[in-house]
Amino acid sequence: MRYCFFLSLIFVSYSLSAQENPLSWKKEAPGIWKAVVGVPENVTPLSVADIQPKIQALSKLGHAAFPGNLRQSAGELFDKKVLLRFPLEREEQLFGLGLNFKSVQQRGTIKELQVDHYGGSDNGRTHAPVAFYVSNRGYGVLVNAARRIKVYAGIAVRKDSKDPPSEMNRNTQPDWDPQPYSDAVEITVPAAGTEVYLFAGNNALEVVQRYNLFCGGGVLPPKWGLGFTQRTPTLFSDQQIVDEANDFEQNGYPLSFIGLEPGWQSYSYPNSFVWDRGRFPEPGKFVKKLLDKNIRTNLWINPYVSSHSPIYKDILPYTGTHTVWAGIVPDLTLPVVQALYKNLFQQQHLGIGVAGYKIDETDGYDVWLWPDGAKFPSGLGGEQMRQIYGLQFQKMTERWFREKNQRTYGLTRASNSGASSLPYVIYNDYYNHRDFITALCNSSFIGILWTPEARSSRTSEEWLRRMQTVCFSPMAMLNAWADGTKPWTFPEVAEEVKEVMLLRMQLLPYLYNTFAQYHFEGKPPVRAMNLEEGFFYKAEARRGNLSSSDNPYEMAIQQDIRDQYMLGDYILVAPLFAGETTRKVVLPEGNWYDFYTGQLVGNGSVIEISPGLSKIPLFVKDGGIIPMIPALLHTPQKNDLLPLTVRHYGAAENSVQLYDDDGETFNYEKGDCARATLSVKKDKNGVLKGTSVLPKSKFFHYNKVDWVFMTRQAL
Ligand code: GAL
Repeated sequence: MRYCFFLSLIFVSYSLSAQENPLSWKKEAPGIWKAVVGVPENVTPLSVADIQPKIQALSKLGHAAFPGNLRQSAGELFDKKVLLRFPLEREEQLFGLGLNFKSVQQRGTIKELQVDHYGGSDNGRTHAPVAFYVSNRGYGVLVNAARRIKVYAGIAVRKDSKDPPSEMNRNTQPDWDPQPYSDAVEITVPAAGTEVYLFAGNNALEVVQRYNLFCGGGVLPPKWGLGFTQRTPTLFSDQQIVDEANDFEQNGYPLSFIGLEPGWQSYSYPNSFVWDRGRFPEPGKFVKKLLDKNIRTNLWINPYVSSHSPIYKDILPYTGTHTVWAGIVPDLTLPVVQALYKNLFQQQHLGIGVAGYKIDETDGYDVWLWPDGAKFPSGLGGEQMRQIYGLQFQKMTERWFREKNQRTYGLTRASNSGASSLPYVIYNDYYNHRDFITALCNSSFIGILWTPEARSSRTSEEWLRRMQTVCFSPMAMLNAWADGTKPWTFPEVAEEVKEVMLLRMQLLPYLYNTFAQYHFEGKPPVRAMNLEEGFFYKAEARRGNLSSSDNPYEMAIQQDIRDQYMLGDYILVAPLFAGETTRKVVLPEGNWYDFYTGQLVGNGSVIEISPGLSKIPLFVKDGGIIPMIPALLHTPQKNDLLPLTVRHYGAAENSVQLYDDDGETFNYEKGDCARATLSVKKDKNGVLKGTSVLPKSKFFHYNKVDWVFMTRQAL
């Protein structure tokens, strides 16, 4: 008996040892490997996103060897779950694991990744619970399953660890660590199988680039998507919206697209998806009136169908067991459902020139969404459907616009893995300004875009600070659906708000080029500092003290830099928040210059700045080349020709390509695009000179270049 017990103990410890089940990696694309454990499910985030890897661009990234250490990764089926284990080295840092709002480095955290409204803690419940982590050692791991994936990122300690933490006596050793060292990421997937992808790279940025290129390359928005957008109060009529657009024009504030909130419909929450003929008697004429002013229309929707909708009866048989706000929940995975939506949306919206959607409430807040036990006609259950619903709606609508050869750019509250190429930006109702900026940083690791939308503020100072960061994000948006706020609502700062909105318009060539890099090279347009070369920052680790008032098990975490980020290759954005007059900025190695003055500010150092209220602090890397246009009130149209002012900062020689195309269609995929070369070189006297080679192409919309040497001027 005792013998038997002993044997079963041996068996248990043997079968629990994941290292006994090495993953078998097969090359999937250049620098990317795939392993399979068990039988993966048919519906996964990557299948829903229908990713089309950019193989040529992946090859162009250069050689990336298999990360040798990852040979020790393991996976097996146990307890009706997939268990995965990936090794970690000492000092290794991890990033990603969903859209987090409070932390950038994720080693030492536990997450149960699920689509949800962000509720204030980085526990995995978030709008884009992308199960992808990036290591600063130059690799990334993606688990592709539409399930609640639980990740122990450097938490679990196995008794057979090759690099175990040492046992310490808390009575006598003050640096006893409440969170002992762990040498692995352990992941459980509640499914009968899963796919796992491994992305290599020479640094963390290259890993992210591979991920984005594998997912089809980042989205290239239409040019108008990069202008300014105002969302109007929910019950505004057509005339009130046109008046609003006129007010922008008269007051000199830029506007490229306008968002209509639920009240454009005859019935909302749940939705009819048809126009309210009281507020919008002639929707076609209304959309055209805005288009004639070079302003696009974006419509708010959520997917839940009202009995007042023309598609209600036809779609009813293809809906889930539960309702949301008494609306039926269509099974979006079914072609028949997609066809019914398409028919109605085409007739009501796309057909009259609507340019995009805001897809709301696909994320969560458990109290109104369907429970896990919901069943859908395709056979999917509530858990899986929730993980993919927002992604599926993005994909479906993206296809409709693509079929019209028209680019769109809109908003979504839910996303997941594989979304890099989808033309949607995530937003939410949470409103902590600092955390909004951390989300911007984190969006860069997981192939999604985020906007720190401005809605309202307690003070003019807060308003200006929020509007400043909005203008340095993927979508410059004021969401006035509830408050009716305008950019000029606080007269004390109205001019400063205008200035930063116009600065965004001036930067359009730089922004568009930055998105072209996202599309063709996979480089995220907004980047956490941790993706920047030469960025090193090690702050004091905190440890658990013997204390009954503070958490005595507080972990040793390195301090994050979560309040500054890169926009494109050259601009470092270091926002201030209401109540602050000074802040620290961590500058990567190399010389950095003030964007506004061209003056040198530091090199690989931490500087303290007190910039005043009027401007958002911006710094430019040595050699930075920033192409700008005159400040326009609307984004340029496809036949406009504009002069460029190209700024150069610092003393370094440099050369960049400036991308352009028609800014509206997908013709660039067939080669209808052009690139200029902008170069700065020293002449024989050591003086910097700028040259530009502009392509003779109808797809290039800039006709002359004025060089401005910002740093030379500053001397
Ligand atoms: C919320 C959304 C807001 C606004 C509102 C309209 O869910 O986050 O931005 O659209 O719905 O009812």
